[in-house]
Amino acid sequence: MSDSTSVFRPGLLAGQVAIITGGGTGIGFGIAELASALGAHVVLASRKPEHLAPAVEALTKAGGKASAEQVDVRDLDAVKAMVGRVADTHGRIDLLVNNAAGNFYVPSADMSPNAWRSVIEIDLFGTFHCSQSVYPVMAKQGGGRIISISMTLHYRGWPLMAHATAAKGGIDALTKTLAVEWAPQNIRVNAIAPGPIPTEGVRKAFAPPAGSGVADVFAAVEEKMAAHAKRTIPLGRWGTPRDIANMVAFLASPAGDWVTGGIFVIDGGEWLAKPGGWGTS
Ligand code: HXC
Repeated sequence: MSDSTSVFRPGLLAGQVAIITGGGTGIGFGIAELASALGAHVVLASRKPEHLAPAVEALTKAGGKASAEQVDVRDLDAVKAMVGRVADTHGRIDLLVNNAAGNFYVPSADMSPNAWRSVIEIDLFGTFHCSQSVYPVMAKQGGGRIISISMTLHYRGWPLMAHATAAKGGIDALTKTLAVEWAPQNIRVNAIAPGPIPTEGVRKAFAPPAGSGVADVFAAVEEKMAAHAKRTIPLGRWGTPRDIANMVAFLASPAGDWVTGGIFVIDGGEWLAKPGGWGTS
């Protein structure tokens, strides 16, 4: 399978086995698309079967190798069992992408214990559960790569996102610690901090109801969003899942051999340009 839109050489990741949590949609699916186009077998791991089946179908239809694992990353035993199945089936795990995340805006003063727990458990516990579970497989085979998807919102204060910013700050710290702790096993541990990327979930939220015949309203919203990006992002556009996938491909390739403990901001310069933080644009 080749991908004429990729700058990477065909077969770059051939023979690799990659687990991508939350790989059925959005950024995770973008990573899965590129990794499978470059020859990896991708295992999409997600809670929702309705996300998994169409994603696997799309990847295999395009000529890639893909399979699905239904798992909730909050459940350590389930994660361990999933990793065991992948290792038994494929004999190895070269790449783990910790992409599964959940969040929503909520005032901190009103956040229920369960709301706090849900996001911390998906984002931070989930990242640790998956990383710890692939460790013995990667250590035994002589190395591997772990890449976690972080964010930039916690670099400044980000009201209404206490749970997610705390979790992603934890992921950054975990990335640095695991990078040092697991370097002797040749496991490279890095993170990527994406800027704003309007995935299909975001687009759906803005779309007019089906059959309402107001396509022009949607087009106007898109136009407004593009104008907003031009104003607020130094490089003048929203990000795409492929922008993030490109960094994953680099880190997963031999070019990433001496890279560990890094947190790579890929955001078109967005967070640097907004020192005022919340509410500025
Ligand atoms: C207040 C909310 C809430 C909301 C959920 N809760 N949504 N509180 N405002 N909008 C509360 C619930 O009331 C409940 O608390 C608790 O959170 C758990 O909710 P559940 O729906 O039972 O949890 P669960 O099914 O586990 O769902 C997890 C989730 C959900 C995080 C709440 O949103 C989810 O699964 N999201 C996955 C998809 C997602 O969010 N993707 C975004 C990734 S994008 P109580 O007390 O009532 O029991 C991304 C980019 C960041 O990360 C960019 C940000 C700008």
